[in-house]
Amino acid sequence: MNNKAFYLETFGCQMNIVDSEQIVDLLQNIGYSQVDSAERADLILLNTCSVRDKAERKVYGHLGRFKPIKDQRPELIIGVGGCVAQQEGERMLENVAYLDLVFGTHNIHQLPQLIRQIEEKRERSSATDFLDRETRLNLFPERTFRETVTRFVTVMQGCDNFCSYCIVPHVRGREISRPSSEVIDEVTELVKQGAREITLLGQNVNSYGLKDAAELSFAELLKKVNAIEGLERLRFATSHPKDLTDELIACFGSLDKLCHHIHLPFQSGSDRILKMMNRGYSVSEYLDKVARLKKICPEIRLTTDIIVGFPQENEEDFQATLDLVEEVRYADAFTFLYSPRIETAAAKMEDDQSKMEKQQRFDRLLQLQRRVSAEIWQEDAGCVLPVLVEGVSKQGEGQLFGRSTWNRIVNFSGATGLIGQTVPVKVSQVMRNSHLGELVEL
Ligand code: SAH
Ligand code: SF4
Ligand code: F3S
Repeated sequence: MNNKAFYLETFGCQMNIVDSEQIVDLLQNIGYSQVDSAERADLILLNTCSVRDKAERKVYGHLGRFKPIKDQRPELIIGVGGCVAQQEGERMLENVAYLDLVFGTHNIHQLPQLIRQIEEKRERSSATDFLDRETRLNLFPERTFRETVTRFVTVMQGCDNFCSYCIVPHVRGREISRPSSEVIDEVTELVKQGAREITLLGQNVNSYGLKDAAELSFAELLKKVNAIEGLERLRFATSHPKDLTDELIACFGSLDKLCHHIHLPFQSGSDRILKMMNRGYSVSEYLDKVARLKKICPEIRLTTDIIVGFPQENEEDFQATLDLVEEVRYADAFTFLYSPRIETAAAKMEDDQSKMEKQQRFDRLLQLQRRVSAEIWQEDAGCVLPVLVEGVSKQGEGQLFGRSTWNRIVNFSGATGLIGQTVPVKVSQVMRNSHLGELVEL
């Protein structure tokens, strides 16, 4: 057995967070323990994201910080995994002389063997082959105990949508849905371990089961999970508007554990741009679904993703995006400046809009969204909200934190015995990203 230490940094979306859980388990199984400083580690791993910006360059820059440590301790192993690793492959080993290992998004299970190989032979290696469906379905790891109230459960992986700007289908591979029986068993087990809230995960989570006639629909899966005893709250992410069925919308009116929040990226308020993005829905279809969600669940709050500066997006298109934000009134939005990604269709599109204009539009959108967010969250002031307590807050001694049904963080003082319980908290102060509150004694 080893007696060594590893340091792991995770970037990107929830897929990477779940993958990193698996990485931690695999490394612990081969005798590595986790440390929180690279200086003390025998193994440094980065789990990377390549969805936008100059992701590759950032990873290379980040790796540079580890070079002095490697210079001092040549036996140190440095590896890169995740979506940048998948995209760049062996090229990374050529570009970074002190890098030992590159592993792709389908190759996490190979880590113990790859690391052993490097330890024994000091040979650098890379593994970035995509695996076939059957192999992937058999490779879902057993979930080990974590002392957390909220857990993620992957129900599908990959993406087949090929939105023209997006690298995810290229770095995560084809879409696969897990058998529903496995998902239900996993949630049941996690709830037994103490989890109270489960988020069902997938890049395109509501396309679950669509390609397998024998499988449950996503709405049917939600119903089954909702019935699991001991579970208090259920969420899912991320939904694609085109696969948001009536059956799924109805769940927000009928499932008692389903939180009243949906993340529903719209990307652009212009039909012309949506078409160029290959999103598969029009603005009116999107708005129609939002209206039905609000009708069935009047207190639902939405969040979204928006891209500004897509090739050829002009002032009129952009104005349509602002209009949509005003109309839907999102509680929060992740706003992104478009960045061309390798291998994607949009990267080859001509663009006639200036960088400065794009930046100014981005700032205008941000301002608008900040105002709308502030107005919506202000509505909570003075209200008593049910808060599922997740843990001790970083805000100070005796402070706990949890979330409202709308996924808003609420900090308040209380005893640690409340962790895992849903308690009434009166919102006393609305901050930009969280609420401050007071526990209401029952
Ligand atoms: N599967 C999810 C989101 C995946 S990526 C979905 O379809 O909703 C998260 C967000 O990053 C996207 O919703 C999009 O807004 C943004 N994004 C993806 N590629 C981008 C790019 N090339 N430039 C700017 N933003 C991008
Ligand atoms: Fe990317 Fe579109 Fe797939 Fe989302 S649905 S991961 S934006 S290709
Ligand atoms: Fe990033 Fe990969 Fe997720 S590109 S957003 S970490 S799927």
